[in-house]
Amino acid sequence: MSPHRAQSGDVGLLDLPRVVAIHRDASRRVKLLQKPDLTYLFWEATLRCNLRCAHCGSSCVGKSPVRELETAEIKAILDTIAADFDARRIFVSITGGEPLLRKDLFEVVAHMTRLGMRSCIVTNGTLLGVEQAQKLWDAGMRTICVSVDGLEADHNAVRGPGSWAKALAGIAAARQVGFRRVEAITCVRPCQLDHLPAIEKAVRDAGARMWRLITIDKMGRGAEDEALWMGAADLRTLFDFIERRRREIKENREKFDLRFSCGGFLGVGRELRVRPGDGQCFAGLCVASILCDGQVSACPSLPRNLAQGSARERRFSAIWREEFRPHRDLAWRRTGRCADCSWFQVCMGGGLHERLVQPDDFCWLDRQDGFADCHTLTPAAIPTP
Ligand SMILES: C[S@@+](CC[C@H](N)C(=O)[O-])C[C@H]1O[C@@H](n2cnc3c(N)ncnc32)[C@H](O)[C@@H]1O
Ligand code: SF4
Ligand code: SF4
Repeated sequence: MSPHRAQSGDVGLLDLPRVVAIHRDASRRVKLLQKPDLTYLFWEATLRCNLRCAHCGSSCVGKSPVRELETAEIKAILDTIAADFDARRIFVSITGGEPLLRKDLFEVVAHMTRLGMRSCIVTNGTLLGVEQAQKLWDAGMRTICVSVDGLEADHNAVRGPGSWAKALAGIAAARQVGFRRVEAITCVRPCQLDHLPAIEKAVRDAGARMWRLITIDKMGRGAEDEALWMGAADLRTLFDFIERRRREIKENREKFDLRFSCGGFLGVGRELRVRPGDGQCFAGLCVASILCDGQVSACPSLPRNLAQGSARERRFSAIWREEFRPHRDLAWRRTGRCADCSWFQVCMGGGLHERLVQPDDFCWLDRQDGFADCHTLTPAAIPTP
């Protein structure tokens, strides 16, 4: 595959606001490279799980491979974060494994809320009944994200029998107790592409107000079966659907949102059409993770050897301030595939975990067979605001 080089081209007036916005997003990331500013924290609550999904990037099973943080330990780490940062600006996304397996989940969420942090969980939904949803609400949580990997048969094929009905019931339970920000997350596989409108209907009928569509990274069990991965034609179908629905939703002022999520640059042809701005990777710039054993990383999807230190041994803020050099260094990213790329200024070498986890397949322009940059807008034609 040849490098993505600038060609001549014209900027259509209608495209200009999008192009300016793409540059504005890039300059925000450049500022954060120089002056990181923590606002988004993942807490990998556990690596234990009650399911065994075929695509699970963390290869979760019933038992954790590590000694996980105890209640007092995670609360103490959060205390230091609240002391050293502005907690009111920090949003915590609680993930796993299955976070609802932690008996102290509600206590830790309440602690986050007391410190001023906002939080959400990402859950498989199978353990999310009205009682659990109410406890999360009472603890101060206001956003719940439930994984729904297709229609019933497709979802159950990767997540196990009965899991689809429970996930949708989990969404409904969250709505029932008053959550307004209830999201569905779908790992899209080629087999689901014919059902996208029906999946949208199912998650909306259950009560979701937002639908995030992602693709499966080649990590953990997700690396084992190529039927799980999306090719260029599949991505085109998916992006066409999302673009169309985002347009219709805006025109009809529907109370629903859907978007694609990934850490990379999707090309001028797709950016800001399949998702709003600031969709690219902020790992180590404003995003950090506390892994389940206290290791501090940027995002939970990064290889674990890229953790920057243990919050069991060192103050979180010292790790955030003094480490994270690979995340904040563009030099190594401007190598290999990206060395001669004209899009580097706005892409900065792709999403970090994608680049490290699947080094032969991290560039979203390559993945789309260059479709997204076969557009009249080329880097040479783009005015830098
Ligand atoms: C790791 S799970 C943890 C939370 C919870 N157990 C769940 O399944 O929702 C968080 C999200 O990552 C997604 N995920 C799992 N493996 C993945 C992979 N290999 N690539 C991309 N996303 C993945 C899941 O489908 C889920 O939406
Ligand atoms: S994707 Fe979520 S529910 Fe499925 S095995 Fe992994 S952690 Fe468990
Ligand atoms: S990942 Fe980004 S910088 Fe690297 S080749 Fe692809 S578009 Fe260019």
